[in-house]
Amino acid sequence: RRVIFSGIQPTGVPHLGNYLGALANWVKLQRDALPEDELLFSIVGWHAMTLPQPPKQLSDARTDILAVLLAIGIDPTRSIIFHQEHNPNHTELAWIFNCITPVGKLRRMTTWKSRLAASKNQGDDAEMDETGLNVGLFAYPVLQAADILLYNRATHVPVGDDQTQHLELSRVIADQFNRNFKAKRQLFPLPTQLSTSSKRILSLRDPTSKMSKSAPDASSRILLTDSSSQIASKIRSAVTDSISGITYDPVNRPGTANLLTILAACNDEDVNKTVSGYVGKNHGALKADVTEAVVEMLKGPRKEYERLKMDKEYLRRVAQEGADKARVKSEVTMMEVRERIGLL
Ligand code: TYM
Repeated sequence: RRVIFSGIQPTGVPHLGNYLGALANWVKLQRDALPEDELLFSIVGWHAMTLPQPPKQLSDARTDILAVLLAIGIDPTRSIIFHQEHNPNHTELAWIFNCITPVGKLRRMTTWKSRLAASKNQGDDAEMDETGLNVGLFAYPVLQAADILLYNRATHVPVGDDQTQHLELSRVIADQFNRNFKAKRQLFPLPTQLSTSSKRILSLRDPTSKMSKSAPDASSRILLTDSSSQIASKIRSAVTDSISGITYDPVNRPGTANLLTILAACNDEDVNKTVSGYVGKNHGALKADVTEAVVEMLKGPRKEYERLKMDKEYLRRVAQEGADKARVKSEVTMMEVRERIGLL
């Protein structure tokens, strides 16, 4: 029996990178799951808080994401879909994990290091400076480990490749807990990453960095709720290169390679097969095909999203039922954790 867990931050409507790197995989896992498999998908509000979020925006985003997840095909009668902050067991377990996680391990997280690097740019010769960064941001991966290990000890975690290091840390924490609080049976098995090849989708404006919700230029990402004309204009203006012809060369031609990756993912085929169709063609032809494929893929979900968004009562009920199921499940693990550490 597999327990599959994944999460997404409510920091805005999900983009094509979230979809192709993770969410589409959630839907596939749900479709192919065996009857005994358990699936849980969480909208992680406590993680979103690690960067400042205007409350109204955060509140709207969490409802939007719930509607998007349902619209792409997550089925609340099959998978448990819930808001993290509706289950306090996440923060309780995160606190316990904080107390067994070495500070040095967290300092090595690339997500933390990139925040640090960004915060030192405030003066020319400023040192790396932690003073402007909050503790939550530092402990972010510990909360993520708690998310995963809370549910009957989830073992399968579908995420994009930017989460690999966080997954590694959750294995370290699980192992540390098992060794600190030994009993006949190991409490936590070590979770593994599930990813469909590694589809890192890059920014349409700067194909050396990943597509992200927080990049200032909105035309760098395609949102799952974008209209056909928005999608077309973003792809038309996507940065590529001035080399003629189409080849798949992620190192020297990242923008072109990114478009090919997107097209291959939309068509669910290998990128080598995709590129073989472009002998003697140019960027214009590729962009037209990418546009058509993305528009086609997102058409159904977008329509369903518009419908669901109006049905606040249904969304509220789904969230409520998901939270109830999540709490009951996680309580089984928490009772055992509390007992082992002597805080029952
Ligand atoms: P978040 O909200 O940043 O992203 C959600 C998922 O989208 C993937 N992703 C991408 N994949 C490919 N290309 C991209 N450009 C791209 N951008 C984002 C991410 O890998 C992720 O799978 N820490 C997590 C949320 C989280 C979580 C968890 C995940 C909290 N607790 C427990 C798994 C298990 C995050 O920030 O995701």
